[in-house]
This record gives sequence, structure tokens and C-alpha cells, in this order.
Amino acid sequence: MYKLPSAPLITAQEINSRVDSLASELKAFDFDVILSALTGSYMFTADLSRRIATPKLRIAFIKASSYGESDKPNANVHISGLEGLDIKGKRVLLIDDILDTGNTMYSLVKALADYSPASITTCVLLNKESRRTVNYHADFVGFEIEDKFVVGYGLDYANTYRTYPEVWALEEA
Ligand code: IMP
Ligand code: MG
Repeated sequence: MYKLPSAPLITAQEINSRVDSLASELKAFDFDVILSALTGSYMFTADLSRRIATPKLRIAFIKASSYGESDKPNANVHISGLEGLDIKGKRVLLIDDILDTGNTMYSLVKALADYSPASITTCVLLNKESRRTVNYHADFVGFEIEDKFVVGYGLDYANTYRTYPEVWALEEA
């Protein structure tokens, strides 16, 4: 069993001001499409996208799920939602919740490249650099964190804790 500790790892205010500064950097790129990897990045995507709003900016969602031993560098990542994706020649901002082994982001970028976008820029809310098994780096990172299992602000433990507005490091109960 797990429980929340007495205080969050990252408060809602800290997230808010970091999302503000990320958005002001990302605005300069003039993206055509935000591509959000469900489900973990839904809250981050909502907050970020409303701050970089432009008339032409579109939003689309894909879903990536790992199967097999997801800790291993060669874990398989199943991607759905690619069919009908119109990103050819487009400037794409790809958003995910967290970079852990790096497997998911690496696989997503590789799969999207087949659709000939003009560019793919990647942004993750959290980065656990010490867990990386795939040589992959995101272009933009919200927060660097230690190797702890975190939930909240979209991130889940077995689909729970997602709706919390803060990021929490789960503790053993
Ligand atoms: P990666 O493929 O190992 O980089 O894992 C990325 C995916 O694993 C993320 O998109 C999350 O869905 C999940 N994940 C990794 N670490 C955590 C965590 O600490 N909390 C919640 N989900 C996590
Ligand atoms: Mg995920």
C-alpha cells in the first residue's frame, strides 16, 4: 500500500510559474500542432496549451503504452491514434508527463518521424535523469526530479491520484 506524504514534492504554485516560463519560451517556436501523449500529460497539456494559444495552433492526442518489461531499454511501446494524424510539413510540439527510461519518448519521436513533420520539439513536465536507459533527451523539461515514483497533476498510480493539482512522491504505507 502507498500513501501521500505530508507535503507535495512540487506545489501547484511552483507548477504554475514553471508552466508560465515554459510557455513563454515555447511561444517563440510558432508551432502548428501540439501532440499530447495521453493520459498522463492531460493536465500539463491543458495548462501549457492555453498559454501558447495562437489561432492556427491545433491539438491532437496519441496514446502510448508500454508492455513487456517496461524498465528495459527494448520494452515495446504501443502507440495508438497515429492514423489520420496530419503532421506532414508541420511544426510539432510533443508533450508527455515524464521521462523515465526514455523508451516512450524515443519510440514516439521515431514513429512520428515517419509522418514527415517539419520539426518535432519535445517537452516533458518531469525528468528522472538517473533512470534513463535510452539515449534520449527532451528539448524542454519542467522539473528535474530524483528517482521516486510520483503522482498527481496527471500522473497516476494504477489510474489513481491523477486529479491532484500538485506532484507527490508516493510513500510506502
Ligand atoms: P519511460 O518510457 O520509461 O520513459 O516511461 C514513461 C512513462 O512511464 C510515462 O509516460 C509514465 O506514464 C510512466 N511513468 C514513469 N515514471 C512514473 C512515475 O514516477 N509516476 C507515474 N508514471 C510514471
Ligand atoms: Mg504515460
